[in-house]
Amino acid sequence: DQDPRLAKISSAIRVIPNFPKPGIMFQDITTLLLDTKAFKDTIDLFVERYRDQNISVVAGIEARGFIFGPSIALAIGAKFVPMRKPNKLPGEVISEEYSLEYGTDKMEMHVGAVQPGERALVIDDLIATGGTLCAAIKLLERVGVHVVECACVIELPELKGRERLGDKSLFVLVNGA
Ligand code: PRP
Repeated sequence: DQDPRLAKISSAIRVIPNFPKPGIMFQDITTLLLDTKAFKDTIDLFVERYRDQNISVVAGIEARGFIFGPSIALAIGAKFVPMRKPNKLPGEVISEEYSLEYGTDKMEMHVGAVQPGERALVIDDLIATGGTLCAAIKLLERVGVHVVECACVIELPELKGRERLGDKSLFVLVNGA
């Protein structure tokens, strides 16, 4: 049986059709943040899952992984590491290119933010094709970090992002409408 908190979380997420372009059903988590109970339940569900897993790093993906990641990190006693769009981080970075529907994008992480052998949780608001999470996993693994799991609030299952992650485990709270 499903946790009773999940239905409230799902209904607090607003879906805006045709944003940012025609045909896209945008999953807007800003309305979830307005619902203090549903927002707290969202964080709690992740904390309950990860608190006893020896995770020392929560890696949050720009931009909306920054909204959920730090609260989880503080609650489980892990550090928070931002995974950013190119040319945003001021220090020395390592970067990973990944493909989008049209063209490529790049994700960057500060050198020295994580150490080999650390255990990481990767967090974002949503998985669509899985390309973004794949890039984050690759970046962390390149520096010897063990990615315990990826976690998102929302999954769009039709886009089969879960398959793209291969044997890397993915935990999501709700499916996109
Ligand atoms: C969205 C979402 C994920 C990514 C998922 O970010 O927040 O980060 O797309 O897509 P994928 O699974 O197909 O890779 P977006 O591209 O809207 O960037 P933003 O968070 O900076 O607005």
